[in-house]
Amino acid sequence: MAEIAIDLGTANTLIHVKGKGLVFNEATAIAFDEKTNAVIAIGDSAAEMIGRTPPSIRVVRPLSTGVISDFAAARLFLQQAIRQVVRYNRLSPLRVIIGVPSRISGAEFKAFEDALDSTKIAKINAVQEPVAAAIGSGINFSQPKGCLIIDVGAGTTDLAMLSLGRVVASRSLRIGADALTEAFSNFLKNERRVNVGDRTAEQFLREHGQAMLLSHAPGVVQAVDMKLGLPVEVTIEAEEVFAAIKEPVSLIVAELRRLLDSVPPDLAADVLSEGIHLTGGGSLLKGLPELLQEQTGLLCRHVEDPLKAVVLGCGQILENLSAFRFVLEAMPDEIRSDAN
Ligand SMILES: Nc1ncnc2c1ncn2[C@@H]1O[C@H](COP(=O)(O)OP(=O)(O)OP(=O)(O)O)[C@@H](O)[C@H]1O
Ligand SMILES: [Mg+2]
Repeated sequence: MAEIAIDLGTANTLIHVKGKGLVFNEATAIAFDEKTNAVIAIGDSAAEMIGRTPPSIRVVRPLSTGVISDFAAARLFLQQAIRQVVRYNRLSPLRVIIGVPSRISGAEFKAFEDALDSTKIAKINAVQEPVAAAIGSGINFSQPKGCLIIDVGAGTTDLAMLSLGRVVASRSLRIGADALTEAFSNFLKNERRVNVGDRTAEQFLREHGQAMLLSHAPGVVQAVDMKLGLPVEVTIEAEEVFAAIKEPVSLIVAELRRLLDSVPPDLAADVLSEGIHLTGGGSLLKGLPELLQEQTGLLCRHVEDPLKAVVLGCGQILENLSAFRFVLEAMPDEIRSDAN
């Protein structure tokens, strides 16, 4: 039986194959021929076409805010990505461990399940992403001790308090790195009267975005003047970038406060000694650990590999199912698959 672990994220999809390790790490994107609907490319090569395609090609990002938004595209993307890394058929079915947002609804999970199970040959187990990220980062949360993990992805921010091997409290925000990119693009449009591509804006924020003003160095972005329709280089002050993304960043801080407020005091007190673990690509925004630390007084640090923690954790579960059975058994009913 082919066995795989998947982190199907809004921006990136990672696949671990049992016995082989991480074999797929590409953008969650698929390009179609507009006329024939044939798939032209998936992954990074499809994402590179975003904003640069002729009218005959359509590029789709099948997920948004952490869940499937285009079912047909998600299904095709998964089928093609999985076929690149393993062989499976009715006689040799596929076993899948998949990471999902911690507060996903039953209907949203069903879409993941159906997209994977479309050939009726997948056995599926879902793991809440903060749990997977903790396992993948070697964080021990099997003790009766609170462990707080925040996963800032492209589409969602998942905040979870773990203890005794399970999520004891969680909150989620449909805001992540994509929302910051959108806020920055809107600033350029409204204040500077220039248009910028999503990929350019995202790249700029990786370098110049800040959750807290730690650097005052300006940055230059390539954009198109809205009036003249011509390409221009625009210099943006560090203070302007900071102000442009301040609001979505402040929502993450507010959600963290709400989570800390909602848990029993003993669990919250454990975080004083343990600190907060940050994971997900969006958590790499400069100054985010410093801001969260300033706002809560709690130590904040990144896990070892924020972009891979979820798939590493799902992979560890897959490699050692008996040791991690307690994790699968502790998952909420909404994400227990019928296919098991
Ligand atoms: N160095 C960086 N600084 C700021 N942002 C970054 C950096 N590196 C990656 N990112 C952002 O991280 C995002 C990808 O993170 P990640 O792979 O964790 O998201 P995802 O798992 O696909 O999304 P989700 O979990 O929300 O479904 C990208 O949108 C990218 O803009
Ligand atoms: Mg993610």
